[in-house]
Amino acid sequence: PRPHRIAVIPGDGIGKEVMPEALRALDAVQRKFGVPLELVPIDWASCDHYAKTGEMMPPDWKNQLSGMDAILFGAVGWPATVPDHVSLWGSLLKFRREFDQYINLRPVRLFDGVPCPLAGRKPGDIDFLVVRENTEGEYTNLGGVMYAGTEREIVLQETVMSRHGTDRVLKFAFEQAAARPRQKLDVATKSNGIAISMPWWDGRADAMHANYPQIAVEKHHIDILCARFVLQPQRFDVVVASNLFGDILSDLGPACTGTIGLAPSANLNPERAFPSLFEPVHGSAPDIYGQGIANPVAMVWSAALMLQFLGEQAAHDAMLAAIEQVLAQGPRTRDLGGQASTAEMGAAIAERI
Ligand code: NAD
Ligand code: IPM
Ligand code: MN
Repeated sequence: PRPHRIAVIPGDGIGKEVMPEALRALDAVQRKFGVPLELVPIDWASCDHYAKTGEMMPPDWKNQLSGMDAILFGAVGWPATVPDHVSLWGSLLKFRREFDQYINLRPVRLFDGVPCPLAGRKPGDIDFLVVRENTEGEYTNLGGVMYAGTEREIVLQETVMSRHGTDRVLKFAFEQAAARPRQKLDVATKSNGIAISMPWWDGRADAMHANYPQIAVEKHHIDILCARFVLQPQRFDVVVASNLFGDILSDLGPACTGTIGLAPSANLNPERAFPSLFEPVHGSAPDIYGQGIANPVAMVWSAALMLQFLGEQAAHDAMLAAIEQVLAQGPRTRDLGGQASTAEMGAAIAERI
């Protein structure tokens, strides 16, 4: 069969340290299962590239990536040299929008062997999906500053929610809930304070619910939802949220399972009209970059999600099993309470595969 063509974009900071560990794991599944992969290394979409060229990506970036089956992505951002909104709107956020990756699927799971910061929780208690809207919502560059530099300075920042964009993420979330045993969907809202878009979002959720009467739906204002993530994480199975709320929940959830260094994500165009993108939830971590201590699991798990999306279920399962075993038995990086380096933990995962 034709190999899966994968664009490999390490990006910045620890993206450059964890990506080699994902490649090591992919090499192992390639050899074990014969998964045919064509890996295409890409050194742009990084602040290093920006320093050299004055832009994050070459003008023909979309052409170069359009023929790929998937994009494996590390992290972008180096605020010491490039403002974050410039580097991110010039790379990751462009991919999500231009490739219509309207679902950001972010699993949250407490693993055996990982110390949980919440008292009394054991593996199995926390195991849910955050389904985050990924192409619109609060993330816009619509608005502006008026009367800049004066006492009358005003800033306006618009939120955009389309019926098309909202219904498709809600539908995806209901489908995920319908495919799981608990038949339950939790909806993030803030219809008390955000008086236009959020009551409307709730109305779209109600309308979609009519198609899935068997699913139990609960709406939570985002503030109490954050509290419930900490106090009652076992009550969640699938959580659907707008772009910004989903962003916040997808760092909070993994923090409740020990470390954000575990959390993977799948930026999906489910129709496969464009390549989907797989990346850790975390960023470039400038505070630890260069020490070789970043946790590689989020990156390796993201690569596993990529293979699952490409139809390589057995390879995905082997990667996840290897992650589970190494988390349970070590070696573990410092964020997990261990002393291992990124490479030691990555090598252990590849060896298990
Ligand atoms: P961050 O996720 O990079 O780091 C937050 C904290 O978590 C830091 O203390 C870091 O050391 C720790 N951490 C993150 N990943 C870890 C790992 N794998 N192992 C161990 N510890 C880990 O978030 P930030 O500090 O807010 O952002 C830093 C830069 O990354 C910024 O430029 C930001 O815009 C960017 N960013 C990019 C992405 C992305 O590319 N998807 C995501 C988030 C942040
Ligand atoms: C994420 C990141 C991005 C986001 C940033 C870097 C723009 O935090 O993938 O969660 O907010 O979507
Ligand atoms: Mn985030």
